[in-house]
Amino acid sequence: MLLLGALCAAGSAVAADRIGDPLAGKAWSDDNVCKECHNPDGNSTVAEYPRLGGQQAAYLYKQLRDFRDGRRRNVIMQALTQELGDAELANVSAHFAAQPAMKGAVLSANALGRSLFEQGDGARGIPACSACHGADGKGRVDGGLAYPAIGGQHRFYLRGQLQDWRSDTRRNSPDGVMNQIAKSLGDKDIEALADYLSGL
Ligand code: HEC
Ligand code: HEC
Repeated sequence: MLLLGALCAAGSAVAADRIGDPLAGKAWSDDNVCKECHNPDGNSTVAEYPRLGGQQAAYLYKQLRDFRDGRRRNVIMQALTQELGDAELANVSAHFAAQPAMKGAVLSANALGRSLFEQGDGARGIPACSACHGADGKGRVDGGLAYPAIGGQHRFYLRGQLQDWRSDTRRNSPDGVMNQIAKSLGDKDIEALADYLSGL
């Protein structure tokens, strides 16, 4: 697949899938505010706050550095990471990655969402999400790149991120890959994907 090849060639957004010390990260997180919004095990119950439980450690670590260094914008997360060093960010990433994996309550019967996730739509230039995010939607690390878990994430958050990629409000994916993909998605596609993915 063309996009995948280009991504692998560009490579190196993250160094490895072994990141941080989960025990140090738990101790640090117990003393910090993360749990107020994301829950102690990362499986937030509030739609606005993404689930972090079982998320790829390399992905969490990249996002936290992206917030801190201004590559991903969000008022709350930028403020909270300003003073933090790489070691703290790596440890807290390892901690949340080691928690029970995010999981939807009920599998959605949404046929459009399922077919876009599993097969994409070649005629409209939409690749299968599962090709990068894994057949189960739980993410993977491959070729130095971290593909996040999207299955079992909050529907509200998924919809918001897909809209943000499409409008270029969020721009921190390697080579803009998610911006390119989201530009081929209509509102109905985004709604269907958010519905289906949140149930996985
Ligand atoms: C006041 C609530 C709040 C607190 C406290 C908070 N977060 Fe967040 N966090 C958010 C929101 C809201 C987002 C979604 C931002 C967006 O829409 O881009 C987020 C996003 C994230 C993401 C990106 C998730 C993804 O799937 O891309 C990570 C990682 C994260 N937070 C980790 C942390 C850590 C670590 C702490 C503690 C230092 C923390 N958060 C504290 C509200 C909070
Ligand atoms: C060619 C690989 C590739 C394909 C295909 C792909 N993605 Fe992604 N996606 C990524 C990468 C890489 C990231 C992480 C970007 C970053 O580092 O910030 C990502 C991030 C995301 C996020 C943000 C997750 C979060 O926690 O904030 C969502 C949502 C998402 N993708 C949904 C989709 C959907 C829906 C599809 C199918 C229509 C899809 N992706 C297809 C590579 C891909």
